[in-house]
Formats: sequence, C-alpha cells, structure tokens
Amino acid sequence: MIGVSRPHESAALHVTGRALYTDDVALRLPGLLHAHPVTSPHAHARVLGLDPRPAYDVPGVVRVLTAADVPGVNDAGVKHDEPLFPDEAMFHGHALAWVLGETLEAARLGAAAVRVDLEELPSVITLGEAIAAQSFQGARPSLERGDVAEGFAASSRVFEGEFEFAGQEHFYLETHASVAQIEDDGQVFVQCSTQHPTETQEIVAHVLGLASHQVTVQCLRMGGGFGGKEMQPHGFAAIAALGATLTGRPVRVRLTRQQDMTMSGKRHGFHATWKVGFDHDGRIQALDATLTSDGGWSLDLSEPVLSRALCHVDNAYWIPHLRVDGRIARTHKTSQTAFRGFGGPQGMLVIEDILGRCAPELGVAPEDLRRRNFYVEGQATPYGQPVRHADRLDRAWQAVLDTSDFAARRTAIAAHNAQNPHCKRGLAITPVKFGISFNFTSFNQAGALVHVYKDGSVLINHGGTEMGQGLHTKMLQVAATALGLPIEMVRLAPTRTDKVPNTSATAASSGTDLNGAAVKDACEQILERLVPVRKTLQEETSAAPAWPDLVRRAYLDRVQLWAAGFYRTEGLSWDASAMRGSPFKYFAYGVAAAEVEVDGFTGAYEVTRVDIVHDVGDSLSPLVDIGQIEGGFVQGVGWLTLEDLRWDTSEGPHRGRLATQTASTYKLPSLSEMPADLRVTLLDHATEDGAVYGSKAVGEPPLMLAFSVREALRDAVAAFGHGCPVDLASPATPEAVFWAIDAARSNGG
Ligand code: MTE
Ligand code: MOS
Repeated sequence: MIGVSRPHESAALHVTGRALYTDDVALRLPGLLHAHPVTSPHAHARVLGLDPRPAYDVPGVVRVLTAADVPGVNDAGVKHDEPLFPDEAMFHGHALAWVLGETLEAARLGAAAVRVDLEELPSVITLGEAIAAQSFQGARPSLERGDVAEGFAASSRVFEGEFEFAGQEHFYLETHASVAQIEDDGQVFVQCSTQHPTETQEIVAHVLGLASHQVTVQCLRMGGGFGGKEMQPHGFAAIAALGATLTGRPVRVRLTRQQDMTMSGKRHGFHATWKVGFDHDGRIQALDATLTSDGGWSLDLSEPVLSRALCHVDNAYWIPHLRVDGRIARTHKTSQTAFRGFGGPQGMLVIEDILGRCAPELGVAPEDLRRRNFYVEGQATPYGQPVRHADRLDRAWQAVLDTSDFAARRTAIAAHNAQNPHCKRGLAITPVKFGISFNFTSFNQAGALVHVYKDGSVLINHGGTEMGQGLHTKMLQVAATALGLPIEMVRLAPTRTDKVPNTSATAASSGTDLNGAAVKDACEQILERLVPVRKTLQEETSAAPAWPDLVRRAYLDRVQLWAAGFYRTEGLSWDASAMRGSPFKYFAYGVAAAEVEVDGFTGAYEVTRVDIVHDVGDSLSPLVDIGQIEGGFVQGVGWLTLEDLRWDTSEGPHRGRLATQTASTYKLPSLSEMPADLRVTLLDHATEDGAVYGSKAVGEPPLMLAFSVREALRDAVAAFGHGCPVDLASPATPEAVFWAIDAARSNGG
C-alpha cells in the first residue's frame, strides 16, 4: 500500500547477490563473444589508417568491427555528432574499433594488435582553453528578466566574481553493460543497462539499418545510473548488436571500471562569471552571469543540461533583474552528460557560492541573507513560472532551525572557535528548490500495461527503469493501492520496449510521477470494467465478492482483464528559444543544516551533524524516500568536497588523459565520510495535488542539500581569518580547504 514503509522490492536479492544484472545474464549465454575496444592514446588525432589484420593472428579473435561493417548509420548520438567508429579521435580513450573474441583476454590482445596510424592534432582540454579558443558547440541560450542595468543602479553594493567548479564521475557500481542476441528471423534482442530503453532501441536500429520493431531492448535493473545511463549506453549497445548481427552469436560489451571512467561522460564542470547587486537590506536586485559548461567532445545532453542550469540559477531566491547567458564548450574529453540534478546543481551552486561569499561583505549572517531573499507566494521565476507553495521553503527552513537547535549551536560554535586556534567548527543552512518535469514538454508522458490473470494475480509492466531508486517498489505499491489488493498479489515484469513503447528516459526524477500515473490509469480502467460484474455478483450472493471470484466471473463474462495505461502531465508550457514558460509541474523543496569541524594544520574535516527537512509531498514509500534523501545528499557531498576529476593538461604525451581513472585516485564518499549524526525528516502537510497520490519526486533534489556542507566549510574557514569573504574551490577537498585557510589567515582584514 502507498504511504507504508517497505524495503526495496529487490533488497533481499541485492544483499544476497541473487539479483540479476545485464552481464549476469550475458555470461549464461552459450557461444558468447566478448568485446574489447581499440582506443585512442591521444586526446585529438586523425585516423590515417586502421589495419585489423594483425588481430586475426591472435588465437581466439573472431572478428574486428570497423566502420566498414555498419549496415545503417555510423553514429550513436541522438544529435548525430557521435560517429560510432570515428575517423577522428576526439578524446583520450575514444574507441576507434572493437574486437570480438572467444574470451575477453583474446579480445583484449586482439585490440592491442590492431594497427592504428594516428596523426596527433592540437587539443583543447580545459574550460579556460576552450573559452580562450572560443571553442563552443550547440545552442547558446539566454535567460532574461527585467533590466539588469536598472537593477545594478538600484543596488547599494555590487560584487563581481569568477568561479570554476568541477564535474563528477557517476561511479555507479555496475559499469556499462550490454548483451545482444539475434533471434530466428533476424530480430535483435538487446539487454542493456540503460535508463532509456526506447532510445537505445532507436540508436541500435539506426546503426543496423533496421526499423524499431525489429529491435527489442530490455533492462532488468541497473546497479545505479545517476544519469550516466540516460544516453551513454546506446553506443555500447550498438556495438554488441552489430557484433551479434555479423557473427550470429551473442555479444557482450561490459566495461571495466577503468574503461568506464575513461570512455563515458560525466557531470559537466562549469565556469561562471557573475556580477550581483544587493540593496541596503541585502536583497538581491540584479544578477548578470555567463555560465560555460564543459560539454566534452560531443553534444549528448549538454543543451538540456545547460537549460536546466539556467532555470535553477535562482534556486530559492527572488531576483527581480536577471540575465544569464549559457554556452557549451567543446573540449577533447569524454562527452559530459546527465548526472543527478541535470545541470540544476551547477546553476544553484553559482548563486549559493555568491551568497556565501558576499554575506560577510554585506555584514549579514549567511542564513539571514538567504532567508531574506526567499521567494514568497505570488512571485515567479525568471522564466515566468509562478513559485507555487513557496511557503514550504520557509516552513522547511524554520523546521530545520528549530529541530537542529541552530541558534544555540551557533553560540556554542563561536565559543568553541574562540578557544581553539587550530580547530574550527562551521555551521550553515541552505535551501533547495528544484523543478520537476522534463524541460522538453513531450517527454512528460508514460505508459503501462497491467494484466490481471484468471486467478486474480496481477502482473504490471511500465516504461520506467529500476536503478536502485525504488521505482519498482513504488509501482507495486501504486498498483496494489489502486486495485485494493495486498502487495503480494502484484508482480512486476522487466522493462521492455516490446511491452511499453515510446518511453521517455527514467530521469528528471519523474519516473514515479509519470509511470505511477500510467499504472494507476490502467488499474482504474480494469476496475471500471469490473463495476457491472461486481454488481451482478453482489445481487446474486448478496455479499461483496472476493477479488478471485470477481475476476473469475469477469473472465467468464468475457470482460477484458488487462489494460494499457497512459499519462501525460498537463499544464506544462515551454518555449526553449525564448526560455520562457512553465516547464515544471511543481517544485520540490528541501532544507539542510550542516556542521563541520576543520583541522587548521591539514584542512582535513569531518561532517559532524546534518539535519534535513525535505518535501516529498505525501510519501508513497517513506523508507525508499528517506534512502533517496540520504543517498542524494551524500552523493552531493562527494561532488562538492571529495571527488576530484583530474585530466592531464600538460603538453606531454599524456595530454588529455584522465588521471583519476580508478577508485584509488578518485575519492568517493564512503561510510567514514557519512555525517556522524544524520537526521532526515519528511516535511509534513505537503500533499501535492496533481501528482500521483499526492506524492512528489525525490530522486534528484536532495543532492543539492549538500550545499549546506560546502557553506559550513566556508563558515569554518572564515573562523581562521578576520571576517574577510572566503573563496572556496569546488570540490572543497581537504587540500582546497587548507589553501582557503591559508588565504583567510593571511588576509589582514
Ligand atoms: N538512486 C539510486 N539508488 N540509483 C540511481 O541511479 N539515479 C538518480 C535518482 N536516484 C539513481 C537514484 C537520478 S539521476 C534520477 S533522475 C532518479 O533517481 C530517476 O529515478 P526516478 O525518476 O524514479 O526518481
Ligand atoms: Mo537523472 S540526471 O535525470 O538521470
């Protein structure tokens, strides 16, 4: 039932290792071939020649796949800018060809034997280099409201700054995986770890020159996606499908961690220049900013990611005059992609950084500066969408202030800091406002299939994919609730494009809103058809019929016991070129307060306590939602404080190589980085009318609660100095915090 805490539907399978993932299924297939890429050792190079012949001398090599083998279109990008077999290597690690072997080792040795003749070309690696070279790609959107000149004229204080911050590796536990098989009449069956089975199906069909109905894509579940499997799986699936087509044998592509990190896209790093004006009360009057995202070598999802960044630069704040220009840099790196928040976190980080940095200049406590600028009911975002339920921001804020004992802890921290020259504590509270729905209106639709069998048991199928976020758990709860049955009566079948077609990616946190409403619609259609049957039975037996009797009778009376459900989100409008409209069904709100303790000798720190109040509407599944809030928050803390992507920017032979390509050099949050005291509460009285059973999306918004930790670090660093503003790098690694302390100490002030 909805609203009841239940474990994840696969929890027992996850923890016992019995849950099947794509590659588990692949390894059971007889005759399986393994694929290994031939990759570029340069960030940018022209392929002068590629000779596969030496690979065939390696025992166990079955086939080398090159551009000449592609029967359809040699492109794996939705924007048609990603040749599957390129004649120009666009990043270090770019796959130029693939080798199929009887074993993975044979394929690997075969790949090493392929002779590639490359001419190295000049490369653009950093955002700074791209901006200097004016190396951009795609649309250059601009979001504008009011008149910034007027806003600055009305400001008593104006500040300017520049801020570059890093991206993030998804580091899903399950790396990219696909396996393809050819069925008897040339039908292609691909199992893939993909958030977007329909698009994987379309790309595979294009590459093979087939119609969509000849390709079926199934996703059992993912060991994490986080946006990294929204668009990036397609090329790998296409390689597996092409290999299977050419050899008639099942082909598996499964990347090692190192391959995954060096070949697949990440969260976009951004560069921002900004100018902000405040009035004498600390109210923001104007913001003028240019955001440049690091798109990597191809567009992928960079345009919608940038658009969401622009639409979130306001976060929770009313900014009367605003102009934000967006650009996407083209660099010779992996093609950066969706990552939990989809640009929203990057936009919001800019304004949170501005407020955190400017508060001391204005002589206002950061928490007061933030709250003072909150939206109030009746105001609209810069793109024109009314901020409905803005009072929830204030309500969540007050709840966190109260339950975290914020004021008393501020005093205690000040006392501690006065006593301890080498160890400082910091405290901060930050808000989240995040728009729910795909910006691209057409994606806001979903389908489902609900079967009631003659014994009364129910099988549901929907267009969403499970990546650990608990979507399937919620769908089971929705179906059981809608049909009024115990959850044990309902089973869920794997996501397949031949069951529910034309699906959207499971993304934008809207998996539950969309698919849940489609499942509910299908259930309601069936119930509707059962009304007369129920009436007949009731008259005959003068008792309310039990479900199995009702279903049995419906079957005998030839009443259709299955239904296809459909849902489209109403009330959305978006003009992408004008950047105006109401693209979101609603906003999700949340507030977090974080306390940190920083060591002045090393910059090492600990997050000691975090209090969160988050708005999930009427929770469908509280345990799942709290898990999402905790997980999202910690993933955000990783992005902002630990995870440090470094590319080799030297002019040497390794230029463009990702230097942090394993867990040993890329620091992820682990148990030891979890806050010692983490308290998560769901905002009460938060029914969201218009979403399924009054619930709200939860997948992405909590990630941005992590701003509280970054701002708490800034607060602690400030305590080492003399009240000057603190510039903090992102990620604020211990090393970065050390340098910030160093600067704070030496700032005379
Ligand atoms: N939670 C887990 N455990 N694993 C994931 O890969 N992805 C996140 C979020 N939570 C993810 C996750 C992202 S990026 C999104 S958009 C949503 O889940 C997608 O699922 P939903 O729409 O069902 O919330
Ligand atoms: Mo999530 S970044 O929308 O897959």
